[in-house]
Amino acid sequence: MEKVFIFDTTLRDGEQSPGVSLNVKEKVAIAKQLARLGVDCIEAGFPFASPGDFEAVKAVAQSVEGPVIAGLARTNEADIERAWEALKYAQKPRIHTFIATSEIHMKYKLKKTPDEVLQEAVRAVKLAKSFTPDVEFSAEDAFRSDVKFLCEIFAAVIEAGATTINIPDTVGYAIPWEFGAFIKAIKEGVPNIDRAVISVHCHNDLGLAVANSLAAVENGARQVEVTVNGIGERAGNASLEELVMALYTRRNYFQKNTNINTVEIYRTSKLVSNLTGMVIQPNKAVVGKNAFVHESGIHQDGVLKERQTYEIMNPAMIGITGNNLYLGKHSGRHAFKMHLKSLGYEVEGEALTKAFARFKELCDNKKVVTDEDLIALVDTETFKGPEVYQFSHIQISSGTNISSTATVGVIVDGQLKEKAAVAKGPVEASYQAINSIVEEDFVLKDYAIKSVTAGEDAQGEVVVQVIYNGRVFTGRGISVDIIEASARAYLNAINKALNMTKRTETIEKVEGM
Ligand code: KIV
Ligand code: ZN
Repeated sequence: MEKVFIFDTTLRDGEQSPGVSLNVKEKVAIAKQLARLGVDCIEAGFPFASPGDFEAVKAVAQSVEGPVIAGLARTNEADIERAWEALKYAQKPRIHTFIATSEIHMKYKLKKTPDEVLQEAVRAVKLAKSFTPDVEFSAEDAFRSDVKFLCEIFAAVIEAGATTINIPDTVGYAIPWEFGAFIKAIKEGVPNIDRAVISVHCHNDLGLAVANSLAAVENGARQVEVTVNGIGERAGNASLEELVMALYTRRNYFQKNTNINTVEIYRTSKLVSNLTGMVIQPNKAVVGKNAFVHESGIHQDGVLKERQTYEIMNPAMIGITGNNLYLGKHSGRHAFKMHLKSLGYEVEGEALTKAFARFKELCDNKKVVTDEDLIALVDTETFKGPEVYQFSHIQISSGTNISSTATVGVIVDGQLKEKAAVAKGPVEASYQAINSIVEEDFVLKDYAIKSVTAGEDAQGEVVVQVIYNGRVFTGRGISVDIIEASARAYLNAINKALNMTKRTETIEKVEGM
């Protein structure tokens, strides 16, 4: 079977999802998990976009072994040089440079003629090639570009040294059979195509990103650009787990394989969801909570008799085990650390101390602690950036037909600050108390709560979005006490907002994105 390369852009296009901003620690944690998953290439970010992006790409390049590490760059010199500054630490670095090729983008956005765009693309690839042999060129909005022009520009960049040519459906406009034919036309229309890998990058505006990517594979694409859980700009990108499991489950049809270690899929999906705060819809294919749940009696009966009656994939194959944790309140720090290791976490020092303390608290408050509980807790505690405001405690008085009062304690610069507030409900009261400690303008934009596991004593997981200086920040908090989880989530978003290197001047404002 021929191999399809999996190029993961969760940390770049995925991070362009509204409200998602990952810190360097979180990005490195995701990148390490992507390496365990077996992706061929990790696009770690867009180094020119901001100092934060630069640091993240550099940190991934320095610490993640195995996959190719790519960084995005427009075609100008400064972008490409900056990308290389961050990528040069990687064992296998790739510069991914792009320029738009559709008439609408060239005319209105770039204000350049097709010939100017072609010359610029060639210049960029040559410059990138002077740094690394591995150069990818993307023709942004390729699907709405003139195919003849695309063939010309691809031939020219391959001649200049591009080793991968990427064909994005930037606005998610294609229909699968049309996209398949488009890829075939490019494969047949570029004379030197045998010197480059054909890649596709599909957005999901019509819900067709995975279908379009599969149609492309059928017509010659050998690299597919995806994100975990399908996150990304607008409606997102092709979802890694769906694409990989389609290729695997229908391998007799596609006759292709990937390098993906499928048992790591579920863990990767959870990590990305937990760190980005982007909740997975229950009916999401492959990784949704309901993806392997059989509700109707007829289906349940069938599955009990023979799993394959209603299941085309085995949940164990994607790493869903339903394991309970065999640790409890009497377990020691070492056993806890080793169990985390078996789940794919290397937690040390202060992060381990914090996670262990919260684990002990949880054991006091919950009868059965599952791996799911532990993963939720560790994802929340371990990858936090520095905490300007650290949660200490909360006390609530609330009830029917009375106002709620919240007293919140927060550690600031080693000092405990406590404030109380009264409001209609306990969450509002606790957020007002926090606002009076923080003394800055944070506006709550969104609030969602769900339980981590089943059961009355389950932990509540709260995800909030707050607006600060016109930007949206996501925060996450968990606790068996949902008001405490709410306060923790709010403080987490506030800390992120304060820590995050200003990305306002970045992705959204970088011309050409
Ligand atoms: O969607 C797109 O066109 C992109 C390119 C930069 C590859 O993300
Ligand atoms: Zn994209």
